[in-house]
Amino acid sequence: TPTTATLPTGDLISTAPLGPGDVARIFDVAAQLKADRTGFGHVLAGKKLGMLFEKESLRTRFTFDIGMQELGGSAVFLDHRHARLGSREAISDLGRNLERWVDGAVLRVYKHRHVEEFAEACSAPVINGLSDLLHPCQALSDFFTLREHWGTLAGRKLAYVGDGNNTCHSLLQTGARLGVHVTVCSPEGFEPNSRILNDAMIAARETGAEIRIVENAHEGVAGADAVYTDVWASMGQEDEIEERAAIFSAYRVDPEMMERAAPDALFMHCLPAHRGAEVTAEVIDGPRSIVFDIAENRLHVQKAIMAMLMAPDAVAALG
Ligand code: CP
Ligand code: NVA
Repeated sequence: TPTTATLPTGDLISTAPLGPGDVARIFDVAAQLKADRTGFGHVLAGKKLGMLFEKESLRTRFTFDIGMQELGGSAVFLDHRHARLGSREAISDLGRNLERWVDGAVLRVYKHRHVEEFAEACSAPVINGLSDLLHPCQALSDFFTLREHWGTLAGRKLAYVGDGNNTCHSLLQTGARLGVHVTVCSPEGFEPNSRILNDAMIAARETGAEIRIVENAHEGVAGADAVYTDVWASMGQEDEIEERAAIFSAYRVDPEMMERAAPDALFMHCLPAHRGAEVTAEVIDGPRSIVFDIAENRLHVQKAIMAMLMAPDAVAALG
């Protein structure tokens, strides 16, 4: 894949269209921006980002807004938590309005189709800040952080324990493309989406990554270089918290589960986390946890993504 200063499709709705060169380029630009946080205020000078969020957020909201500010631009946040997207006006009309005012948009939505619909209507670059199906900026920040820790990624083993949700899907799609072996440990009925899984398996054929789905978490984490978990009930599934807590009780990442992973295995979580539910305090607050490094890197990785989508010429000039 040729390495260019922009990204395929001009949006970042999913990591599936990214080639290995694209991901490497995002990581290299992110590392450059991270090394000099205040040195790139010209890259998006005067550019505007629109942010439309149907769900709560701490990390995504802060990092996109601060990222724009650090690159010389600004962001406008529209809190859409109290009205579903498309309820006041058609989603395509939202896109056709925003494109007249902004240079890029980040959406956090329930239905994945809605971020796609918006992107089809909007000529400005659109970034998926989490949908029910995918969380691409998260997975890119996760693997960027692992690359910082390990130097290289191909051939490493990542075990994801828990719900086959948006975070899990983007880890599968991205890991497969980076040659990382991904084992998903989920209870029956909570496995990842089969279409996402198939896509990851096809991508994995090119890179030699091994993608596995297992029910037994203790078996699945054996020898893993990193163990990842996420909430058992995602945003929008609050009614199912109790029911899910019972179903997922064998999927809690505790010291015993970490013992089965590789000796220096890292612990990962996209956050927010629930101590005592999907992970124990000993693990998430312990020495192998890199959760706050990942949260920090959301900023640098998303700055790279925004720069590549909104100012490819400025990125090309970075060398
Ligand atoms: N990990 C993540 O996306 O965090 P927020 O929901 O706080 O944005
Ligand atoms: N799976 C979680 C991720 C939050 C960042 C959710 O969708 O709520």
